[in-house]
Amino acid sequence: MNTLHRIDGRLHVEGVALDTLAERFGTPLYVYSRQALEEAYQAYARAFAGVPHQVCYAVKANSSLAILNLFARLGAGFDIVSGGELARVMAAGGDPGKVVFSGVGKTAEEMRAALRAGILCFNVESVSELHRLNRVAGEMGKLAPVSFRVNPDVDPKTHPYISTGLKENKFGVPIADAPALYRLAAGLPNLRITGIDCHIGSQLIDLSPLVDAADRVLALVDALSAEGIALGHIDLGGGVGIRYRDEPSPDLAAYGNELSGRFAGRSEKLLLEPGRSLVGNAGLLLTQVEYLKPGEDKNFAIVDAAMNDLMRPALYEAYHEITPVFARSSPARHFDVVGPICETGDFIGFARDLSIEEGDFLAILSAGAYGMSMASNYNSRPRAAEVMIDKNEIHLIRTRETIDDLMAGERLADLT
Ligand code: LLP
Repeated sequence: MNTLHRIDGRLHVEGVALDTLAERFGTPLYVYSRQALEEAYQAYARAFAGVPHQVCYAVKANSSLAILNLFARLGAGFDIVSGGELARVMAAGGDPGKVVFSGVGKTAEEMRAALRAGILCFNVESVSELHRLNRVAGEMGKLAPVSFRVNPDVDPKTHPYISTGLKENKFGVPIADAPALYRLAAGLPNLRITGIDCHIGSQLIDLSPLVDAADRVLALVDALSAEGIALGHIDLGGGVGIRYRDEPSPDLAAYGNELSGRFAGRSEKLLLEPGRSLVGNAGLLLTQVEYLKPGEDKNFAIVDAAMNDLMRPALYEAYHEITPVFARSSPARHFDVVGPICETGDFIGFARDLSIEEGDFLAILSAGAYGMSMASNYNSRPRAAEVMIDKNEIHLIRTRETIDDLMAGERLADLT
C-alpha cells in the first residue's frame, strides 16, 4: 500500500496512526485506504484509456458496502456471483445496468432478482443454465441478456486452487463448443445475445496468459461475426495479481497496451472484472500480540487475528507481510505468527523475523482482497470491524460483530 508509511517509527495509513485505530476500535481490525483504492481504480482507467471499456469490480474480493459505494462513485460496474452480491451492489448505490453475473450455479431465484434489477448480462456457464435462464425470463415476460463464459484452456501459471481457465476446471464452456451454443441461444425466444466472457485465474504476475486468452476469444468473436452473430462486449475477466512479497509488480500498462492494439477499430466494448488488483494492497489487517510462547524448536507469537479473519495463509499457504506498528530497536527473533483457533493450519505467517513484545500491534499487509470477504465465525469468533481512512478522517464502515449477532438466527430444537 503506497499510503502506508512510518512517521518516527510509527506506522500510519494516510494521516492516521495505526495504534490509535487499534485503541479506539479494538483488534482484529481491517483498515483500508481510500486513496489506495482510488489509485488502483485510476491505474485501470489510465491503462485502458485508449479503448472503450468498463471495469466491473469483482465483488467477491471485498464486498463491504463502503468499498462498493466508493467504486460505484468512480463509475465502476460490478461482477457478481450471487443474489447476495447483487443486493449488496444495489444497497451500495451501484448501477445494475453495469452488472455482470458470473458463476456456475445460478439459482432460478437469483436469475429472477437479476432480471428484475435489469443487469447488463448473465455470464452463462452451461447448457442447462441457458435453458433455465430462457425459462425463467419467459415466465417473467423478459428477454435475458446472455454472454457465454468460454474456457480458453490457457494456463494462468498461478496457484492450482485459483486457476479457472483450464479444461479440467468446472468453469465456463469449452471454447470449441461456443459457436454451437451461440446458435442455440440465438434460437431461444427469451434470450438476447450480448457478449462473451472468460476468466482464466487469479493472482497472475506475468500477464501474457491473459493476452493469449484474449487472442483466443477474439478469434472466436470474429468467427461468430462471420456467421452473423454480433456481440456488444468482450469481457476478459479479472486475474491481474498484486505484490505480496517480492514478486515483480504485474505490468498493467503493458496489458492495457496489448489490448488497446487488439481492440483498435473493433466495435465491441471491453469489459474487465478485476478484484484483487483493486483492493488487495489497499487494505491491511491490524492485530495485537496476545502471547509470546518460546519453544524448543521455534517461538510462537499468538495474535488475536486468526484463520477465520484471514483465511488465505491456511487455504493457499499465501504469504502476507507482517510488520509491527512500532518499530523496536531490540534484535529480531524468529516467530511463527499464529492465531488462537484450534487448528494447526491457523497461521498468519511462518518464520518471521520480528522484534516484538506481548501487547504490540502488528499490521498484516495486502489483506484488502479475499480477507474480510472470506472471513467466517469458526470457533464462534465474531468477525472483525472495518475502517476506511480518508486522509485524516476515520470512517467506521463495519462495526465489530457481537456474540449476540452470532446466535441471532439460532433457536433450541423443540425436544421432548
Ligand atoms: N471474475 C471471475 C469470474 C472470478 O471468478 C474472479 C475471481 C474474478 C473475476 C476476480 O479475480 P481477481 O481479479 O481477483 O484475480 N480467494 C482467492 C482468489 C479466488 C478468485 C476467484 N475468482 C485468493 O484469496 O487468492
